[in-house]
Amino acid sequence: MKQLDQYEKWNPRFSDLAHKFLNDMELKEYLSINPETISSQLKDLLEKPIANFTVVNEVYFRARWSQIMEILHPENDLTLLEIASGDADMIVQAMARTYENGKYITANMNKLLSKSLIHKTKDLPIAVQIIEDDAISIDQYLGIESVDMIAFQHAVNDVLQAILCDQEGIDTIYSDWMETLPRMIEILQKVTIDNNLEARVKIPFLSLLNSMQKVLKKGGMMVMNHYMFQLDLDWGYPPYLFEFLIPIVREWVKEIPEIKEVYYDGFDQNWWMFLEKI
Ligand SMILES: C[S@@+](CC[C@H](N)C(=O)[O-])C[C@H]1O[C@@H](n2cnc3c(N)ncnc32)[C@H](O)[C@@H]1O
Repeated sequence: MKQLDQYEKWNPRFSDLAHKFLNDMELKEYLSINPETISSQLKDLLEKPIANFTVVNEVYFRARWSQIMEILHPENDLTLLEIASGDADMIVQAMARTYENGKYITANMNKLLSKSLIHKTKDLPIAVQIIEDDAISIDQYLGIESVDMIAFQHAVNDVLQAILCDQEGIDTIYSDWMETLPRMIEILQKVTIDNNLEARVKIPFLSLLNSMQKVLKKGGMMVMNHYMFQLDLDWGYPPYLFEFLIPIVREWVKEIPEIKEVYYDGFDQNWWMFLEKI
């Protein structure tokens, strides 16, 4: 697998980042792990499909998104919209530490995961809005050109999987996402064999991006990232699709005239895509 990031760059300052991005309980857990284990967990995180969910992952992803937010919007009033967050809270956690005048919004359809995210974010010192609806309807909730940045944090796969489930009449709103995952993987195996992923999902995916770009300010950025989970691979997720998801959708997004791709040093194009609204 192409590495996600450079271990040598992160390892020397990882302890400082842990102090910055973890709360007291999390930091206590972090400090209880010996430094060699921290380093080897970090190396695995950056160089292999993710197999462990540790406090090291939390530090890295919070710090990484914080770095992006600082590059794209250094002023402290960032309004960020996340798409398909589930209950993953790395972005809102990062924002809560660096954007005291910021606002975090997420559009997330699955009820159980939204409930969990509400719980995880309830005490964070930042304004949070959870829109429990399909992101395609975002303009019913947010004004035109009202957000500075839109994040698809490991969410391109989720959006595509939800589109495919919808086509097959499989509920992803009221169900347990993880319980549905094996059926999602079966559908992905079938579209891979039939070679019809693009025919089935490109238009709905681009329609969603088109809705997104309307609420994004001119000059604002849609940021998409991806990485692999070992569990999904073990359960049969088509490996090529999982590894090269960003390059696959990169070809499709060229069809949206309002956005253009830009590149940043240090962000591998296999795992990252930055789309600026022009
Ligand atoms: C596994 S969770 C996402 C986790 C997160 N992206 C991560 O990997 O860190 C999948 C979520 O994507 C949401 N989702 C998929 N398509 C969506 C859409 N079009 N609008 C809103 N939420 C969507 C689902 O409802 C579900 O809550």
